[in-house]
Amino acid sequence: MLAKGLSLRSVLVKGCQPFLSPTWQGPVLAIGGEAGISTNSPRPFSEIPSPSDNGWLNLYHFWKKNGTHKIHYHQIQSFQKYGPIYREKLGSMESVYILDPEDAELLFSREGPYPERYILPPWLAYHQYYQRPIGILFKKSEAWKKDRIVLNQEVMSCDAIKNFMPLIEGVAHDFIKVLHRRIKEQNSGKFSGDISDDLFRFSFESITSVVFGERLGMLEEIVDPESQRFIDAVYQMFHTSVPMLILPPELFRFFRTKIWKDHAAAWDVIFDKADEYTQNFYWDLQHKQDFNQYPGVLYSLLSGNKMSFKNIQANITEMLAGGVDTTSMTLLWIFYEMAHNLKVQEMLRAEVLAARRQAQGDMDKMVQLVPLLKASIKETLRLHPIAVTLQRYLANDMVLRNYKIPAKTLVQVSTYAMGREPSYFSNPDKFDPTRWLDKSKNSTHFRYLAFGWGIRQCLGRRIAELEMTILLINVLENFRIEVQSLSDVGTKFSLLLLPEKPILFNFQPLKKDLGTTMIRQGGTV
Ligand code: HEM
Repeated sequence: MLAKGLSLRSVLVKGCQPFLSPTWQGPVLAIGGEAGISTNSPRPFSEIPSPSDNGWLNLYHFWKKNGTHKIHYHQIQSFQKYGPIYREKLGSMESVYILDPEDAELLFSREGPYPERYILPPWLAYHQYYQRPIGILFKKSEAWKKDRIVLNQEVMSCDAIKNFMPLIEGVAHDFIKVLHRRIKEQNSGKFSGDISDDLFRFSFESITSVVFGERLGMLEEIVDPESQRFIDAVYQMFHTSVPMLILPPELFRFFRTKIWKDHAAAWDVIFDKADEYTQNFYWDLQHKQDFNQYPGVLYSLLSGNKMSFKNIQANITEMLAGGVDTTSMTLLWIFYEMAHNLKVQEMLRAEVLAARRQAQGDMDKMVQLVPLLKASIKETLRLHPIAVTLQRYLANDMVLRNYKIPAKTLVQVSTYAMGREPSYFSNPDKFDPTRWLDKSKNSTHFRYLAFGWGIRQCLGRRIAELEMTILLINVLENFRIEVQSLSDVGTKFSLLLLPEKPILFNFQPLKKDLGTTMIRQGGTV
């Protein structure tokens, strides 16, 4: 699964010369729970292992290696070369990279009340140039906290999640119907092909149903082309960000490059469509009488009077944009792993069927009864994290691995590299969800970081976990999943971590005698 020629070896055992070199000053002691602080006085920042202080030279080598889409492999190689902490300047941007779970714990324990992550320059440039309103993704300090507290209540609390369940269950049932429709279309008793477009639509339908309390119909036979434009725009927005990550986006704008134009056009569609959905919803609300079911996050925000309309619009836009490619691509990878590991798939199916029997169809109970399924989501995100790093600007000076790191430095936790590191995950290439069921401190502590950590972690985490759990329950009950080729599919960094080429599956319907609720075209049988 790693890039060709990149062997998997522990950065702590082999290949970390500076870490074991004469500059290495003895064992690191954990004092008061602070890993990475040694008895010796800390060494200066400049001594952190680094390729060179010439950021432009580093950038030249990075590009020569075609590093842009391989940044996750580049990080693994750097850890192998420099040890568990290194510093790298690319162009004018400098970061310190870490991968040890205990170092990550130390970093996050110091993040303070207003954690700040790296804001992508092309996103910022677009928002500033076109004066678009910003939500929590971009906000800082008190302004961020004020919005975040309100939004947490709406999408992270247990009550909120209970409200989302029937909505997401309905969307998952429709996804099963889509697969049956595809099988009928192919007329070969199974569906063979790429399902990423259907997964994008599933995720978009799920996030919009949670936000608006209504269905857009993206899993129907004929879909609204305007909503499809939104889905395509989100993909385009992520994809066109990558070339503008290191060089100033203003340059790309000044020279009217295609990449800037495509990027700005994608954001334009995202804003225009999100505004249109929100405005339409607002007008419909005036005439709406029937509130028998949960009316959605937007209604709750509007009626709560805790945020201005403009602020609500900005945050809804960010939730819609953040809720499509993230869950859909993770689901794609889960199917990929289950198809490569049929034994695990059978164990998961057995768990789901037993849970269905025990919970008698009550989804609320059922999601409590599938620990292995939840572990398989964690395991997939270990191997295929959507975000290859988590970033924090240091609020204060701190010491990491006995190096002094000044306040405001950008420190990145390499989640991809951590997930592949044998010192933290035995047999790291193996897809083994059971590793997450062992709750002993050493094997799981600070290792599940796919949604970030702390008060600035992913706002959509609970929605995403619920969406994925409910969809997987339904798919496992109804289909056996296989891949057409067992060879490994590599990954490319396209801001999110994506498969290098389309993954072709076979979805084989299961026989009815499994004693489960089978969703067939036209309803439940
Ligand atoms: C598998 C699915 C997803 C993954 C792996 C994921 C991952 C992440 C990560 C790593 C962060 C940064 C966290 C940090 O810095 O500590 C983040 C932030 C964020 N995510 Fe997600 N995400 C997912 C789904 C979603 C969904 C469905 C939404 C829609 C509500 C969403 C909305 C956001 C927002 C708004 C932020 C910024 C939060 C803030 O700055 O306060 N994400 N996500």
